Amino acid sequence: MKIRVHDKEFEPYLTADMISKRIKEIAADLSKDYKDKKPLFIAILNGSFMFASDLFKELNIDAEICFIKLASYKGTKSTGHVITAIGLDMDIIGRDIVIIEDIVDTGKTLSEFLPQIQHQQPASVKIVSLLHKPEATVYPITISYLGFSIPNKFVVGYGLDYDGLGRNIREIYRLAE
Ligand code: IMP
Repeated sequence: MKIRVHDKEFEPYLTADMISKRIKEIAADLSKDYKDKKPLFIAILNGSFMFASDLFKELNIDAEICFIKLASYKGTKSTGHVITAIGLDMDIIGRDIVIIEDIVDTGKTLSEFLPQIQHQQPASVKIVSLLHKPEATVYPITISYLGFSIPNKFVVGYGLDYDGLGRNIREIYRLAE
């Protein structure tokens, strides 16, 4: 069934089951790859809060998590502005870092954030993203752990918003034709 968020109609796209199944698979890969490394996960707010929470619960290794806030999005088009609102207060020198994103769209956000992280001399930096829109790429980003590769259509739900609304929806919906 279609839903309305603000002025737009969205149709069902990824079910809660599909999302949780994929998260379990990614968590298994991460648990294997980061065993005994005590990785530090850095989740990028706001969009990734739900994904970060569900993913983190599925890890069966020692791991830390912290949250950072950057904003580069207004409405349905990327504005290209990246603002750091909540800074990183952890010492990341020599740490194995895994950045948690909800979606990589143009790649602008991460292309600005990654050098800031690299600058602090971590042992390694990898990215886990629930969604990726390859067709929207402007700044190529290597996503080591990916949930779903999706077409270049606006999506809401599971933490992702359209102008502030839709984050609480359990499934992911996409803009209807
Ligand atoms: P990028 O910098 O263009 O890669 O955009 C990344 C950010 O834009 C994501 O972390 C989201 O917050 C937001 N974003 C990109 N595409 C969508 C979408 O389809 N729905 C909701 N938010 C999106």
